[in-house]
Amino acid sequence: MGLIRYIKEEIEVIRERDPAIHSSAEVLLYPSFKAIIRYRLAHKLYLKKHYFLARWISQRTVRKTGIEIHPGATIGKGLFIDHGNGVIIGETAIVGDNVTLYQGVTLGGTGKEKGKRHPTIKDNVMISAGAKVLGSFTVGENSKIGAGSVVVEEVPPNSTVVGIPGRVVKRDNVRVPRIDLDQVHLPDPVMNELKQLKEDNVTLRQRVEELEARLVKGEETNEDL
Ligand SMILES: CC(C)(COP(=O)(O)OP(=O)(O)OC[C@H]1O[C@@H](n2cnc3c(N)ncnc32)[C@H](O)[C@@H]1OP(=O)(O)O)[C@@H](O)C(=O)NCCC(=O)NCCS
Repeated sequence: MGLIRYIKEEIEVIRERDPAIHSSAEVLLYPSFKAIIRYRLAHKLYLKKHYFLARWISQRTVRKTGIEIHPGATIGKGLFIDHGNGVIIGETAIVGDNVTLYQGVTLGGTGKEKGKRHPTIKDNVMISAGAKVLGSFTVGENSKIGAGSVVVEEVPPNSTVVGIPGRVVKRDNVRVPRIDLDQVHLPDPVMNELKQLKEDNVTLRQRVEELEARLVKGEETNEDL
C-alpha cells in the first residue's frame, strides 16, 4: 500500500474513533500513528529475517511513543491505540481489523506456553485501559474487555468481559447472570462427614457407658438377691 493512501486511512481511523481530535493534521502527532507506521516497516524486515534491524526500529519506537509492538506480531487494518503509553503487543499476537486498544493494554504470554504464546484478537474488538490479555487463546469478534481486566481464557464473540480473572458479563447485549459462590466459605463434604462420625462416636460411647453402668448395677443387685 502506498504511503499516502496509508496516511489517509490512518487519518480516517483516528478521526472516526477519537472524539478529541480537531483536525486531520493532529493525526501526525498521535503515538498510535507513529507506532503503527514504524511497526509496518519493522514487520516487513522481520519477515525478511532482518531480526536485529526490525527490533531496533521497534525499540526506538518504544522510546518515542511508549508503545511496544513486536515486529513479529500480525496486525490487520484499522488498529487504533488511544493514548498508547504502556501498550505491549507480543511476538505471536494476531490482531484483526478495526481493533481499538487503550493505554496500558498488554497482549502478552503467561510464560507457560511455547510457540504461539500471545492472544488472537478478532475484528472490531475493544480492549480498555490497563487490561491484560494473557495466553494464546482467541478473543471473539465485536467483544469488549473492560478496563483493568485480566483475561486468561477464550472470549466468545459479541461479549463483554470484566474483572480479574476476566468473566463474561454480557453476551449478544444480554446480561449473563452471576453465580454468587462464596469463595471463602466453600462447603467441605469430607470435613462434614468427619464431624458427623465424631458426634456419632460420642453418642455411642455414652450409650456403652450407660449400658455398662446398668450391667454393673444389675450384677450387684443379683448378688444382693
Ligand atoms: C466494559 C466497558 C467497555 C462497558 O461495556 P458494556 O458492554 O457497555 O458493559 P456495561 O457497561 O453494561 O457493564 C456490564 C457490567 O460490567 C460492569 N463493569 C463494566 N466495566 C467494568 C470494569 N472495567 N471492571 C469491572 N466491572 C465493570 C458494570 O458495572 C456492569 O455490571 P452489572 O451488570 O453488575 O451492573 C466499560 O465499562 C469500560 O471498561 N470502559 C473503559 C474504556 C476505557 O478504557 N477508557 C479509557 C479512556 S482514556
